[in-house]
Parts: sequence; C-alpha cells; structure tokens
Amino acid sequence: MVNEKIRRPIIAGNWKMFKTHLKGVKLVQEINYGIDKDIDAEVVVIPPFTALRSIKTVIEADKMKIKLGAQNMHYMSEGPFTGEISPVMLKALNVEYVIIGHSERRQHFDETDELINKKLKKVFDVKINPILCVGEPLKIRELGRQKQYVREQLNNCLKGLNKDYIQNIVIAYEPIWAIGTGKTATPEDANFMISFIRQRISRLFSPIISEKIRIQYGGSVKPFNIVPIMVQPEIDGVLVGGASLNAHDFISIINYKRKLK
Ligand code: 13P
Repeated sequence: MVNEKIRRPIIAGNWKMFKTHLKGVKLVQEINYGIDKDIDAEVVVIPPFTALRSIKTVIEADKMKIKLGAQNMHYMSEGPFTGEISPVMLKALNVEYVIIGHSERRQHFDETDELINKKLKKVFDVKINPILCVGEPLKIRELGRQKQYVREQLNNCLKGLNKDYIQNIVIAYEPIWAIGTGKTATPEDANFMISFIRQRISRLFSPIISEKIRIQYGGSVKPFNIVPIMVQPEIDGVLVGGASLNAHDFISIINYKRKLK
C-alpha cells in the first residue's frame, strides 16, 4: 500500500533551542546521508538563528535536497529592536521557511494573534513561506472547545492577508498538550482538526486555496507513529520537535514511505 498525497508532503524538524552550529552541521550531514534518494516529500530543518548560515553553506555545497527554515522573525525590515531578527536578514541567508506563532512563543514570550498577524503580513513581502502554528491548550481540549479556539486563532492570525500569497502558507496544527509530552492526538483526531482548519481556510479565502494549502500535524511525532499519521488523507506532513534532533529518528520519519511498501 503506497499512500499518494494530493499535496506534496512537508516534513520539518523544529530544533527549538538545541544544537550549536557545529553540532547542527553534523546533524544535517547525517540526515542528508540517510534520506531516500527518490523522496518526494519536502524536508526542512529549522535550527536556531546561530546555525542558519553554516547549515545553508553545507546544504548548498553538497547540493542537498534539504531546505532551511527559521524559528521566528520580527515584523519590521530593520530598526532599533535589540535582540530581534528581521525577515530581510533571513531572506539574505536564503531561508525558505519561517515558523510563526509557535505555541512556545505564545506561552513564554507573550506573542498574541495580533502580533502574529503583523508577522504574516510582512513575511510574504520578502517571499519566505510561513509555517503558522495553531493549536489548543489542555484546558480547552478538556472542555471540548478546540474547534472554537482554533477557529478564533485562524480568524485573528489570517485577518487581511492577501489571497495571492496565502496559498504559500503552511499551517501546523500542534495541540499544546501533545508537545513534548509523548501524548499524541489520535491520527483520526488530528485528521479531523486539520480537515476543520481546511474548511475554515475555504471560508476565509476560497475552496481552491484551501485545497492547495498544506497542513501539518505536530506534537510528539516519532518513528513509531509517523505512518498512522501520514496515511490520514488531510494531513500533509509533520512538524517534529524532539525526534528531529536525532538523525536516526528523523531519517526514519522522513523515509516513512518505506514502511508502507
Ligand atoms: P515534539 O515533537 O517534541 O512534541 O515538539 C513538537 C513541536 O513543538 C514542533 O514544533
């Protein structure tokens, strides 16, 4: 059984605040070595800012198929914002993706939907593709209000975005209670929420756009659960945290199709 996807799968590794640039380069080389040569999925590594330049250099030098993403950005091109990184700076490094609105940014750095909306409005100007994260905390899930919660996040974060650009967005549904906890949403439940997100995109933009946009699942994705997740029809890929820090595990996730044959 080979599961063919309508949209090109995107498998991304969010390294969070792990790996120096030296360790990062080694990890990317190991991942590259293990990737199936006929892979049709897009593979993205998302290291800390300090490793972007070195990793881009090895990706280009070795003509790797791996793409590069960043974990965050400011919404201005430049300015007196000590400690921040601008989208123009990321573009100059040929960064192709940037995570916007990860739940850890929302939780620990008070990022609001309004701020995330400003970042999304900016990111398309520099032609970097955003990976917008949405997902509910445990309390909301226990109340059964996850759909309302995610709908509100989408309404606020995507407000006023240009229809011409929106199809380049990737959305990651990451229920907060599944991040780093070892608890995953069941594949069916993740598929249901992702299908709900697609319906919302259809309402907010158009059915054609909603069919083009790729929506990932994130939250305790591991080699043992990648297949049941990826066989779900609405799930176009995964945003992996912990398991993307280990070459063996991330390769096993990337090459999930081997397990389908
Ligand atoms: P884990 O895979 O470690 O649960 O992290 C998920 C995540 O937050 C990816 O952005």
